[in-house]
Amino acid sequence: MRRESVAEVAALFDVYQTGLVFHALCALTRLGVPDLLGETPRPVRTVAAEAGTDVDALRRLLRLLDGHDIVTFEPGTDEVALTDRGELLRTDHPMSLAATFATLGVSDVAHRMDHTLRTGQPAAPIALGEGFWEFLAARPDRQRVFSQAMAEQSRLLSLPCVDLVDWPAEGTVVDLGSGTGALLTAVLRAVPGLRGVLVDQPHVLDRSRAAITAQGLADRCEVAAGDLFEEPPPGDVYLLSRVLHDWDDEAVTRILSLVAEKSPDGTRLVLFEDVLPADGSAGAAQAWADIAMMLLYDGARERTEAEYRTLLERSGWQLRATVPGPPGMHVIEATRRSPRPA
Ligand SMILES: C[S@@+](CC[C@H](N)C(=O)[O-])C[C@H]1O[C@@H](n2cnc3c(N)ncnc32)[C@H](O)[C@@H]1O
Repeated sequence: MRRESVAEVAALFDVYQTGLVFHALCALTRLGVPDLLGETPRPVRTVAAEAGTDVDALRRLLRLLDGHDIVTFEPGTDEVALTDRGELLRTDHPMSLAATFATLGVSDVAHRMDHTLRTGQPAAPIALGEGFWEFLAARPDRQRVFSQAMAEQSRLLSLPCVDLVDWPAEGTVVDLGSGTGALLTAVLRAVPGLRGVLVDQPHVLDRSRAAITAQGLADRCEVAAGDLFEEPPPGDVYLLSRVLHDWDDEAVTRILSLVAEKSPDGTRLVLFEDVLPADGSAGAAQAWADIAMMLLYDGARERTEAEYRTLLERSGWQLRATVPGPPGMHVIEATRRSPRPA
């Protein structure tokens, strides 16, 4: 065997083994184990008892993560602590990714990727027995973790884009498919003259009113349970963050047309989405997101600027600008434009 081949085999075998680390983190965060660990080493037996896990299984899993800079064992003992990276799996860390790992998602459906590959259809209904949104709607605990995961990712991807938008000094911003409100409340804090409306499914918004009141925004932010496929509340700016990539072209056209229908010319639309390069390539994170969409939702995909432009024009909007945000995010701005009379 050539020497390079040995290195290639080792590298590929590493990929094979590393997949298990992802699943280990998903399982540990679902059981709340990182919240029972910290900087100070604790006996595995104690942690297992508190988490309600099998002590031997937990120890072996933590040994795997010791090799991946998530936990560290005190030499010669059965005591374990979180590394700095592992601390990010605690729910109380300000940059926590705990819910991102714990949520229903790729870890639950990717084992049926063969189905997606054969049919082009999402793996979620095959793996879960029903569609992704329906599965979540029937399970409030899983829905809450998913919404928390969206808020965590919003902090990474969408909040850094708030300053990239020239928001009007006053008026109403309607956030469609808002999740629990992490993004819109950040916009309202940045621009004190604005009012906001959160629109999402009723079971997503059930706790949002209390959260908005706690932030002192109750008099400026309305919570309007609704549906993307129904007429939206009136607004001056419509915001859709990481919503359109969940849907196929036909659904995106319906969503955007419904917003356009009652909106006067000049109404603004702000999309927070990643934008794929025009040449058909994709960075590693973009390819990951595109596959995640393909596995989870019917017809969902990441898109190029040209694809967004076409969908916008088809729905009564004109694309004005595309501004890059942090890796994995762009701001696409459009305005309402009625078709010119023939
Ligand atoms: C990927 S999340 C994005 C959440 C949030 N905008 C963000 O950036 O974090 C998509 C959101 O669309 C919502 N959604 C899905 N189907 C919906 C529907 N038919 N009507 C309203 N909202 C819907 C989900 O509940 C979820 O909150």
